Amino acid sequence: RDILLIGAPVDSGKRRRGCLMGPDAFRVAGLREALEGLGHRVTDKGNVAAEAVDVPDDTRLHALAETVGWTRSLLRAAEEAMGQGMPIFLGGDHALSMGTVAGVAAHAARVGRPLFLLWLDAHSDFHTLESTESGNLHGVSVAYLSGREGFGAFPAMPAPIPGKNVCMIGLRSVDPAEREALAATDIHLVDMRAIDENGIRAPLAEFLGRVDAADGLLHVSFDVDFLDPAIAPAVGTTSPGGTTFREAHLVMEMLFDSGRVTSLDLVELNPFLDERGRTAGLMVDLTASLLGRRIFDRPTRSLA
Ligand code: ARG
Ligand code: MN
Ligand code: MN
Ligand code: MN
Repeated sequence: RDILLIGAPVDSGKRRRGCLMGPDAFRVAGLREALEGLGHRVTDKGNVAAEAVDVPDDTRLHALAETVGWTRSLLRAAEEAMGQGMPIFLGGDHALSMGTVAGVAAHAARVGRPLFLLWLDAHSDFHTLESTESGNLHGVSVAYLSGREGFGAFPAMPAPIPGKNVCMIGLRSVDPAEREALAATDIHLVDMRAIDENGIRAPLAEFLGRVDAADGLLHVSFDVDFLDPAIAPAVGTTSPGGTTFREAHLVMEMLFDSGRVTSLDLVELNPFLDERGRTAGLMVDLTASLLGRRIFDRPTRSLA
């Protein structure tokens, strides 16, 4: 495949700094080389910059204007990249997904295909600008992408994603206002308890089956805190009880087998918090699994 690496050094989505170093950490950890080794053509497009915008800051919200500027520039970069291959957005914190997924959604609408969103995260990131308690805008991305009200300062979401096209896996930190708002949607919610009880395979297979039936495009947004902090310490918002190395690789392998993934975010890596590059290295290995690295070939691509 043609793969585009696009750096999105967004660090405005929360107060703890460091995610701006993420794109270079992915590069140093050998992402391009890993994907080329699998036979893909990889182009590194360098880093996007935030647009300067004329938006008044809001004392309740951290860095609103800067995040709006990132959303605008990444929206354009993502829509353009979708015409050229499979973009992998190297974050950057999760606020970047407002721009990347909005751009992908604009592309999907233009080519007349439904867009599906897989959110791999400990958090649901479903606050509005009104409901956020922390004021950290990395916690509002899915609400914006779903077309919830109250994002006036942001560019209008070009094609809001219906809840039935969204699946969140790995949930274990959901605020009360988010829980209430999610209950009014048909977003498919897979929390850690569901994974413990049924395994991670069944809900993912069900979702991928629906993507397939609709001939959809699939964007995967991978927050480092989806993983257990014991294997992925380089993230500001650690939450214990995350997915294991084996569960995460299985998810990636199933995504490869589905043949459906058309764009990917790698977000919330904070290299300042890493231990000798182990989190960056693990994220590179997981991305390689998503793009075809395997132990043995499987006889069939069927998920049944
Ligand atoms: N729900 C919390 C908040 O709004 C945590 C959000 C964490 N989001 C993330 N992308 N890591 O602040
Ligand atoms: Mn997140
Ligand atoms: Mn396009
Ligand atoms: Mn998270």
